[in-house]
Amino acid sequence: MQCKDLITIADLSLEDVDELFALTTEMKESYRRNEVDHYLVGKTLGMIFEKSSMRTRVSFEAAMTQLGGHAIYLTKQDINLGVRESVKDVAAVLSRYVDCITIRTYAHETVVELAKSSSVPVINALSDYTHPCQALADLYTIKEKKGTLEDIKLAFVGDGNNVARSLALLCAKLNVSYQIASPENYELSTEFLELARATATSSTCIEQYREPKKVVRNADIIYTDTWISMGKEKEVETRRNDFKGYQVNSELVSYAKEDVLVMHCLPAHRGEEITDDVIDGQNSIVYDQAENRLHIQKALLKLLICE
Ligand code: CP
Ligand code: NVA
Repeated sequence: MQCKDLITIADLSLEDVDELFALTTEMKESYRRNEVDHYLVGKTLGMIFEKSSMRTRVSFEAAMTQLGGHAIYLTKQDINLGVRESVKDVAAVLSRYVDCITIRTYAHETVVELAKSSSVPVINALSDYTHPCQALADLYTIKEKKGTLEDIKLAFVGDGNNVARSLALLCAKLNVSYQIASPENYELSTEFLELARATATSSTCIEQYREPKKVVRNADIIYTDTWISMGKEKEVETRRNDFKGYQVNSELVSYAKEDVLVMHCLPAHRGEEITDDVIDGQNSIVYDQAENRLHIQKALLKLLICE
């Protein structure tokens, strides 16, 4: 892998993604066969979490255990990044103790600053801007389920948020058609769309619409995420109101292909952005995509730490 850090999907080349997906398959299969992949014996992962997490924290921690290494979970209470001491000092000192750092935080600039001052690899475990580990697991899951990413059409319904952005960038890189439907004021910015389109091969469609039905028509994948991301809790009432009509329910799903796969990064707010019958229905692959967070991150840790 060419890059030192994974801050956004833009850090990865197409070759990096191919290498990552191939190693993920290898590691997933060997895990299923109960084989031991102790690539990271004696290695430590420092995990800074300024926001809640279940999947990301547990999958990274389990990944380190399975690879023979160790992970240390550091909350705001432990290090109080930027308040108790500067991001620069935390990065420099942690780099003397651990072999890799993951960070989940609010401002994307904090991740960038941490990476700049760290001599060890830094992985973005979610910022307000992006969630690259999620997108990698998601596109890997689509490839696994459909057997290919060729001619796949992904429809994102909802907020043009961190998850929507990472998916757009990875779809652009992997030549997967990406169409998003968002209400007014929750769209992807023009600058971001330009960036995503600049990454895309000329034939890849990265489009933004208002109407959910328009994007789900003939979709292979319907993807949604919460209307109220972490940090937006104060806007809960406004957002519930603004996102009316953007729920992924059986009526909306009926416009897609019959074998459409329904995805959600989780945690889901059942009854808000997605209904129980859809998330629990036969087209839903939400638990498989959550499982793949573990395998993709094992491959990522191995490639970033050992190479
Ligand atoms: N999808 C995801 O990142 O979940 P957590 O917030 O639980 O880590
Ligand atoms: N958009 C959500 C993703 C959670 C995994 C958030 O930022 O809260």
